[in-house]
Amino acid sequence: MSKILVTGGTGYIGSHTVVELMEEGFEVVIIDNLSNSELEVLDGITAITGKEPHFEKVDLRDRELVIKVFEKHPDIQSIIHFAAFKAVGESVDKPLAYYENNLLSLIHLLEAMKQFKIAHLVFSSSCTVYGEPDSLPVDESAPIKKANSPYGNTKQICEEILQDTLESSPELGVISLRYFNPIGAHPSSKIGELPIGVPNNLVPFVTQTAAGIRERLNVFGDNYNTPDGSAVRDYINVVDLARAHIVAIRRLLANKQKTAFEVFNLGTGKGYSVLEIIHAFEKATGQKINFKVVDRREGDVEQVYADTAYANRELGWKAEKGIEETLLSAWNWEKNTRSKKNRS
Ligand code: NAD
Ligand code: WQD
Repeated sequence: MSKILVTGGTGYIGSHTVVELMEEGFEVVIIDNLSNSELEVLDGITAITGKEPHFEKVDLRDRELVIKVFEKHPDIQSIIHFAAFKAVGESVDKPLAYYENNLLSLIHLLEAMKQFKIAHLVFSSSCTVYGEPDSLPVDESAPIKKANSPYGNTKQICEEILQDTLESSPELGVISLRYFNPIGAHPSSKIGELPIGVPNNLVPFVTQTAAGIRERLNVFGDNYNTPDGSAVRDYINVVDLARAHIVAIRRLLANKQKTAFEVFNLGTGKGYSVLEIIHAFEKATGQKINFKVVDRREGDVEQVYADTAYANRELGWKAEKGIEETLLSAWNWEKNTRSKKNRS
């Protein structure tokens, strides 16, 4: 069975994808520097799959160490590249750290792919590249707007680096997956999202409020031009998202790409407002959320949700899990990890 390199494989989306890959019989090598994840994630992966992935604690900014991983595993066939810094606000304060990490990591991988003749890469992109879309739902042909954060800009530049590299390397195939808002956890509650410090994202903040770690959830704005005034997003279950990566890898391995660089939106196609998420969480879990409407958060878009027709048709993949099931999985994971560290 093929050996797949998963960078960022102990992170949130990476760990769920590693589980799906291993359950499909792929052999997995993880590279992660644990800058935003913990080694114990490997225990969760092993508990679910009954097998241990190979793990290399390597920083992708270190070219020599990256090369060593490929020398150690010369049979790597394909790469899924999750590793990146991803906090929008932090990227505004530390733009150079974001450009260095997110761009250099990709460049080192592409260099290694050339040297070790690896032809397939799946790249983690984001709906953030669409900015405030002109029309909804957003399909893959929607214009790329000027990024409203250095983080968003790294995703745009990475996609450009990939396209430029493909121009001179016809043997390569790349699939860029633009995620909408991934949420939830594995149904076993053995892996999930582990935000360090105060969460930026809505759902971890909701679960930590329900758990009593946060006193109150701030709802950022209720005067948007949406049905209830709060902002609308396309929340996708992380296991559904993980499964799309297996489909993408199989598409590359089978040479089924239509063009060398393919882009797919990964969402559900349905938008939920912040207030709808709170109410769905309360319904699914029986927990009350203490919340208050406050000012809008700077840089937030009003609404964005995916047109999933192309991904559904071309990949034969569809997000399947409903919002309540997904929010319940996030809550079960929160309960399971409540006593863990880094929760202040
Ligand atoms: P995460 O922070 O949980 O996982 C990323 C992993 O990469 C972490 O384990 C971190 O330690 C590792 N890492 C970072 N820099 C590294 C480096 N230089 N060398 C080695 N390892 C490194 O993030 P996630 O939510 O799982 O996101 C995965 C990918 O998906 C990222 O590229 C992110 O930008 C993208 N994405 C995430 C979301 C989201 O909302 N979570 C949405 C769209 C796109
Ligand atoms: C969702 C909604 C908030 C927290 C971010 C990145 C994006 C992508 C996904 C990586 C918004 C509201 C939030 C809170 C709130 N990541 N909210 N109170 O901003 O849609 O997307 O993650 O690529 O690039 O920007 O996700 O979860 O932060 O917010 O009211 O305490 O919840 O205003 O409307 P966002 P989010």
